[in-house]
Amino acid sequence: MKFNILQFDEIDSTNQYLLQNTLELPDFSVAVAKRQTAGRGRKGRKWHSPEGGNLYFSLLIKSPDIAFEELSSIPQIMALAICESLQSCGIENSWIKWPNDIFVNQAKICGVLCETRLKGMTLEGLIIGVGLNVNMTKSDLSQIDTAATSMLVESNDNEPYSVLETLHVILRSFEKHFATWSVKSRRSELVELWRQNSLLIGKAVKLLDDEKAIYGTVVDFSENGEIILQTEAGMKNYSYGDLSLRLQ
Ligand code: ATP
Ligand code: BTN
Repeated sequence: MKFNILQFDEIDSTNQYLLQNTLELPDFSVAVAKRQTAGRGRKGRKWHSPEGGNLYFSLLIKSPDIAFEELSSIPQIMALAICESLQSCGIENSWIKWPNDIFVNQAKICGVLCETRLKGMTLEGLIIGVGLNVNMTKSDLSQIDTAATSMLVESNDNEPYSVLETLHVILRSFEKHFATWSVKSRRSELVELWRQNSLLIGKAVKLLDDEKAIYGTVVDFSENGEIILQTEAGMKNYSYGDLSLRLQ
């Protein structure tokens, strides 16, 4: 992957920018901004995106060679890249809270938002957005309506991190894991890494969509990035979609 990095001081949303400009931009364009005025999470939720040394970026993959049922693997590949990058920056105890969050202990440090640009049934572009709290201080974090943390808060030495260097570490890790995933016979290696970076295996959880709740115990992850639950109705796979997970 040859990344085409586009830097902005301010933007509405890096995901929105890539969605709007998919056709004109080269493959593997990366939009990165110092602040976002309309940063978003899933289901129209807000992503708190002030200036102050955080990472807000989105990666565009054009016409990806990917089937719709495989799409759930993409946020998991990015989440893995983030956990690995945090570890290489000396931050331990990060884990992937399927489907799209990265936590350090019990606090959220990062969210991943995957969106698609479709023309009919053709996937013109896949946009993978990442909001990672890099240098936010405790008082900045207290403005967020959920338990949140940052790399700075989790570090031992209180030295700010370089945001662009962090971006490059993540992109290199994503590239490596995406290459593994692209070889079908190697996908089991990723499942193993997802297991290792998850605290959910064996836990009782509730999956919520707009209408109902599904209760079960997490058994594993599939090669398509789905979560596999043991439910009353038997073993079932669930994909990224709009599901939210709660520990019971
Ligand atoms: P779900 O379990 O459904 O994914 P969620 O609370 O993680 O629920 P998301 O849509 O994934 O929801 O993420 C958006 C939420 O993340 C916001 O509602 C807010 O609580 C939280 N949030 C917003 N900005 C930040 C940030 N900079 N750091 C950490 N958390 C944030
Ligand atoms: C979530 O936890 O729901 C995902 C949050 C994703 C936030 C990132 S910040 C960069 C990119 N641009 C956006 O508007 N959202 C994503």
